[in-house]
Amino acid sequence: MAYFLFFIIFLVFLFLLRKIRYAKLRLPPGSLGLPFIGETLQMISAYKSDNPEPFIDKRVNRYGSIFTSHVFGEPTVFSADPETNRFILMNEKLFESSYPGSISNLLGKHSLLLLKGSLHKKMHSLTMSFSNSTIIKDHLLFHIDRLIRLNMDSWSDRVLLMEEAKKITFELTVKQLMSFDPDEWTENLRKEYMLVINGFFTLPFPLFSATYRKAIKARTKVAEALTLVVRQRRKESDISQEKKNDILGALLASGEQLLDEQIVDFMLALLIAGYETTSTIMTLAIKFLTETPLALAQLKEEHEQIRARSEPEAPLEWTDYKSMEFTQCIVNETLRVANIIGAVFRRATTDIDIKGYTIPKGWKVIASFRAVHLNAEHFKEARTFNPWRWQNNNNSEAVPSPVNVFTPFGGGPRLCPGYELARVVLSVFLHRMVTRFSWVPAEEDKVVFFPTTRTLKRYPIILKRREETRSSIGIGNTADTGRQKEN
Ligand code: HEM
Ligand SMILES: *[C@@H]1O[C@H](CO)[C@@H](O)[C@H](O)[C@H]1NC(C)=O
Ligand SMILES: *[C@@H]1O[C@H](CO)[C@@H](O)[C@H](O)[C@H]1NC(C)=O
Ligand SMILES: *[C@@H]1O[C@H](CO)[C@@H](O)[C@H](O)[C@H]1NC(C)=O
Repeated sequence: MAYFLFFIIFLVFLFLLRKIRYAKLRLPPGSLGLPFIGETLQMISAYKSDNPEPFIDKRVNRYGSIFTSHVFGEPTVFSADPETNRFILMNEKLFESSYPGSISNLLGKHSLLLLKGSLHKKMHSLTMSFSNSTIIKDHLLFHIDRLIRLNMDSWSDRVLLMEEAKKITFELTVKQLMSFDPDEWTENLRKEYMLVINGFFTLPFPLFSATYRKAIKARTKVAEALTLVVRQRRKESDISQEKKNDILGALLASGEQLLDEQIVDFMLALLIAGYETTSTIMTLAIKFLTETPLALAQLKEEHEQIRARSEPEAPLEWTDYKSMEFTQCIVNETLRVANIIGAVFRRATTDIDIKGYTIPKGWKVIASFRAVHLNAEHFKEARTFNPWRWQNNNNSEAVPSPVNVFTPFGGGPRLCPGYELARVVLSVFLHRMVTRFSWVPAEEDKVVFFPTTRTLKRYPIILKRREETRSSIGIGNTADTGRQKEN
């Protein structure tokens, strides 16, 4: 009993101490909730509703678009204001990247998302140069199209679209990273990856969470597999002069003298970054299109025109991609409504004055993109999927919004290096999808937004192949860098 009393007094003391420390600063309005727990429970229960951003919306209404809360053990400032978000993104020195423990442990400290300073800058630009439009046009587009068709060839009449999309994006990233074509090895690696990703939204304490334990174990396995690949490549590049045109090759040739561990962390994280994100967008684009038949019809027409210009199964060309205007409206609108990365996480490196408030040094800062993208002030009827809002000369009510409020790929020094690649993958996927198939949903499925955006049932659909579109491409028939079988 005495202990209990002591504990209560201790809590009250902490509470007062906190009040005194922050009284001098003009904090953004809001509530820090209880000591330790803060508003974490309110946050978790809020997301059980259908609303995509209930926790933030409620507080924006009460306090304005910058507010204080206390979640997951830390005082946190939320921003739902486009200007502030932009300021946060552009000022890497004031706001350093800071992701929850589970995510950063599983990604590894040498992953791009967690690197800082000059090494980050160098590695970011290296990643960019392997995902920019030149390399996509000259090298990746061919493989993107080929791997998408190859996967579609093997589809049965009923597929879980999310699963198929994940398989495609994983194979593509493996190709881009280390030039391997899909085989059993890739598929086994992917199974381990799924376990790693499951651990992202757990508490990072092995004692409490079996999912987290499994994720850590899977991460070790993935890292071992990748380490073997790195060692093998080091050996190969010692004996032969032939350089492979992939990210692993670039890492080894970067002149940075990177350790195996650094390269492995980097690759492991890149495989995660491009995997769930792009595949979820692929799935949701199809779901939104299915529910918007007018848009689907217009998209089909755009792609039939491209097909009409060449042989039925001819590879897509860069000019084809560049002619997909309406497709880009679909891509943008899907990114806007779905918000795969709904927010980015930072930490204030010093006391920061912003919009008349002070964010204290050491506080967590969450810049919410979703809250902006779904705000009716910036996008009329913001919750409605309306791809036409992105058309230049459409006088419809749903204003095309100024560019700086739309940040699906973030911005500043941490702008997603895969932004162009993701767009191309999505466009090619949509092209092959609408020219090869018609489909209907096999079951009712629902989009949920927490902890990640996804559909509950992985979007099962029933497919009908249009004419005979099964292509005759095989894995082995490219002159390019197939996976060398070791052992
Ligand atoms: C629809 C697909 C995608 C979306 C919506 C997306 C979104 C984002 C966002 C918002 C960030 C910024 C995170 C931050 O500022 O803290 C980011 C970072 C990143 N993305 Fe993507 N991404 C997508 C696809 C990809 C792909 C295909 C790749 C693979 C090349 C990729 C690789 C990365 C990496 C490595 C980072 C970390 C960058 C850094 O911290 O410097 N992403 N992504
Ligand atoms: C893309 O990166 C390559 C280096 O890999 C560079 O030569 C090229 O100029 C870049 N292209 C663009 C459009 O930035
Ligand atoms: C303009 O947008 C509306 C929907 O907001 C759409 O029905 C219409 O077809 C679009 N007009 C053009 C010219 O694309
Ligand atoms: C899609 O969004 C990007 C910004 O991410 C913008 O630059 C582009 O113009 C938009 N596309 C269309 C068709 O509006």
